[in-house]
Amino acid sequence: MHMVLITVTVLMLPKIPLCQPKIVTVYCSAGQYFDRHDERCRECSENTWMAETHHRHTKCEPSRKLQPDDPYYNIIFSGNKTHKAVIKCSPGYFDSPYFTGEPCSRECTNCTAIRMFFAKACTDNQDSICCPEKGMRVVNGSCKLVNASTYYKTKKKENPGHVDQNKQQNNKGDDYLGITIAVTIAIITIAVIAIFAVKKWVVPWYQKRHLKQDRRTDISLGEEDRENQLLSPA
Ligand SMILES: *[C@@H]1O[C@H](CO)[C@@H](O)[C@H](O)[C@H]1NC(C)=O
Ligand SMILES: *[C@@H]1O[C@H](CO)[C@@H](O)[C@H](O)[C@H]1NC(C)=O
Ligand SMILES: *[C@@H]1O[C@H](CO)[C@@H](O)[C@H](O)[C@H]1NC(C)=O
Ligand SMILES: *[C@@H]1O[C@H](CO)[C@@H](O)[C@H](O)[C@H]1NC(C)=O
Repeated sequence: MHMVLITVTVLMLPKIPLCQPKIVTVYCSAGQYFDRHDERCRECSENTWMAETHHRHTKCEPSRKLQPDDPYYNIIFSGNKTHKAVIKCSPGYFDSPYFTGEPCSRECTNCTAIRMFFAKACTDNQDSICCPEKGMRVVNGSCKLVNASTYYKTKKKENPGHVDQNKQQNNKGDDYLGITIAVTIAIITIAVIAIFAVKKWVVPWYQKRHLKQDRRTDISLGEEDRENQLLSPA
């Protein structure tokens, strides 16, 4: 009786390939890391975190040491094993993920103080970007003039002496180039006007004067000749 029941149950079960080896790739969730030795996920240890939910990272991220009374930042969220801490830098300071010092302890550059212009204000994780001219924007990591009319207006109005090392040189070079071009254009313009004036007024005046003189000499010569003829005994 028992045997029959077991046989019937086994026959009625769906076919499961119980004996086939099944390779299962293990993925870990947030708050865990992947232990290579036994292919298992383990809990992040103290002062570390992992936010990714489907991963095989073998290490959790180290948490930064935060102090609630630190003047450089305010703690928005102190973090846990699944979430990174969130801080807000104090005004004038920024944080860099590449900087291993105290969080938010990097001072934002004051573009005005180095006689440049703010192209991008300082943010929590990036320093301010200074450009040598007002109205410049950062395009592909370098200062570019987006609006030419603004550029010429500001260049005329306020062109500060630049302090920044290599930018200073570039700018001086630009200034010299500008002056050279202006002087060259001025010289060419004056030359063209001079040539035009000479052709239009000086040459005709000179030619007229010469013609008059020539006529006068002709006349006087004629008179002299006549005098000579008169004086000379026939
Ligand atoms: C970690 O912080 C997040 C965001 O505040 C929260 O949703 C989550 O429940 C926290 N996890 C633990 C284990 O405290
Ligand atoms: C930046 O520098 C200028 C000129 O030195 C100064 O007037 C201004 O107060 C400074 N700004 C900040 C935020 O320090
Ligand atoms: C930025 O540089 C890349 C490669 O140098 C170029 O393909 C892209 O067009 C540039 N973008 C602008 C806005 O100039
Ligand atoms: C260029 O500058 C002028 C005057 O400052 C402004 O009216 C215009 O909107 C600017 N154009 C662009 C594309 O920024």
